[in-house]
Amino acid sequence: MSSEFTTIFEPYPQERRYALAMLMDVQNRYRYIPREALEALAAYLANEKVKVSSLYSMVTFYRALSLEPKGQHVIKVCDGTACHLRGTPLLLDTIKRRLNLSAGETSQDKRWSLETVNCLGACALAPVMVIDDTYHPQVKAEKVGEILAQYEKPA
Ligand code: FES
Repeated sequence: MSSEFTTIFEPYPQERRYALAMLMDVQNRYRYIPREALEALAAYLANEKVKVSSLYSMVTFYRALSLEPKGQHVIKVCDGTACHLRGTPLLLDTIKRRLNLSAGETSQDKRWSLETVNCLGACALAPVMVIDDTYHPQVKAEKVGEILAQYEKPA
C-alpha cells in the first residue's frame, strides 16, 4: 500500500508545509488515514525531519482527518447558535433515530458517519446540514427521510 501513498505524495514538494494537503488527499482516497500512510509520509518528508508522531498529532487535531474509516456518506449537522435555535436538536434526533447512530459515530456497515459542526458559514439558511459536499438548507425534521433516501439508492 505504501507505493499507493507515494503516488499520492509525489505531486507535492517534499516539504512539511504540504503535509496537511497530502493527508487530506489520503483521507479523500481511503476515507481515513491508515497508520502506513503516516509512516510513508514521514519517510517522504524525511529531509525535513518530520516524525510520525507529529503527523499523528495533525490527524487528531483536524476534524476533517480521521484515524478510523468514515462512512461512505458523511453527514455534518450544524449545531452553531443560529442552527441550534432553528431546529438542530430535533433534526439531529431524527437522524439518530433513523440511522441508529449518534454524533461522532460511523454505522457498522460503513455507509454513514454522523458529525456535528459549529458553523457551516450559512447561518441565514439555518438549520443546515451537509452530506458529503452537498448543502441542505433549512432542513425540516420531516424532510430528513426524503433527503437520506437520495443517498440510500445504489450507486
Ligand atoms: S450556525 Fe449553522 S451555519 Fe452558522
